[in-house]
Amino acid sequence: MRKKLGVLTSGGDTPGMNAAIRSVVLAADDNGFVAMGIKKGYAGLISGDVSRIKPEDVRDIANMGGTILKTARCREFMTDAGRQKALNVIKAYNIEGMVVIGGDGSFAGAEVLDRHGIPTVAVPATIDNDLPYTDFTIGFDAAVNLVISEMAKIRDTMNSHERIGVIEVMGNQCGDIALYAGIAGPAENIVIPEKEKDLDEICDRLVSERIKGKTASLVLVAEGAGSGIETAQYIHDMTGLEAKAIVLGYTQRGGSPSAADRMRASSFGIHAVQLLARGNGGRAVGIRNNNLFDEEIKAALATEPRAQTQLLEEYRILSRNG
Ligand code: F6P
Repeated sequence: MRKKLGVLTSGGDTPGMNAAIRSVVLAADDNGFVAMGIKKGYAGLISGDVSRIKPEDVRDIANMGGTILKTARCREFMTDAGRQKALNVIKAYNIEGMVVIGGDGSFAGAEVLDRHGIPTVAVPATIDNDLPYTDFTIGFDAAVNLVISEMAKIRDTMNSHERIGVIEVMGNQCGDIALYAGIAGPAENIVIPEKEKDLDEICDRLVSERIKGKTASLVLVAEGAGSGIETAQYIHDMTGLEAKAIVLGYTQRGGSPSAADRMRASSFGIHAVQLLARGNGGRAVGIRNNNLFDEEIKAALATEPRAQTQLLEEYRILSRNG
């Protein structure tokens, strides 16, 4: 009988989760495993929402946003009783290894499964890029691309009306979406958790830019560092300039994955399955300096947040004199 390997997606969805599922299913088949799809993350593991997922089921999904397995944030899995139910389901289905695709909460769950004797590999997927052990998580690139394409549209109308566009982007613990979009967009100002917040300095810059004839400026605010609505209000109150808040919200989490996301998702999925085929659980896969690697989930979770010194310096230079 072929061994069974389970796969689930958990936490906030990201573009590229489907590409990762496809990769896991095809790599499982390649390694002689039967892939079992678990619906709605850990919630489906608890309720027993488990069914076989065949290579033909993942034929056309690499370009699709969302996750065909659905996802959830599951409080019950935080409890001993919930975990026990999940372990019972895993045993009932004879699942001998798990691939968990998600962010830090999902990784913590993966570590629990592994510790309880189910070899489990974690694959990083979160648009926030807030798993600093890996340079990139699945979905981050698509989110940045979405943000910079929206920025261009917002800049057009801000320019016509001579307004300041204050754009709130996702990123709770980590300002990478705002930082990357601030460089690539570009945006004249960013407010991110990694940078000391000085709204008065931003106000001064906006006023001096206006005096020099610049009719529109963009301010990107990472949600973890402040609210777009409040920031726009503050700018208006302090400068008298018309400032409009735009919250991009869930638009950043949907849509087709970028090529980079699909490539990463594909490599991560294969690598995860190959680790399990070799009997290596408790690992997190990632990419560092363009090299695929894996390390203990615990070590991955304990990695300190990036200071982003180099990118912040690049941003400083590029945003001078807007
Ligand atoms: O997935 C990460 C994230 O997108 C955060 O940036 C955001 O704050 C959060 O998820 C929103 O989560 P939910 O789907 O629970 O509203």
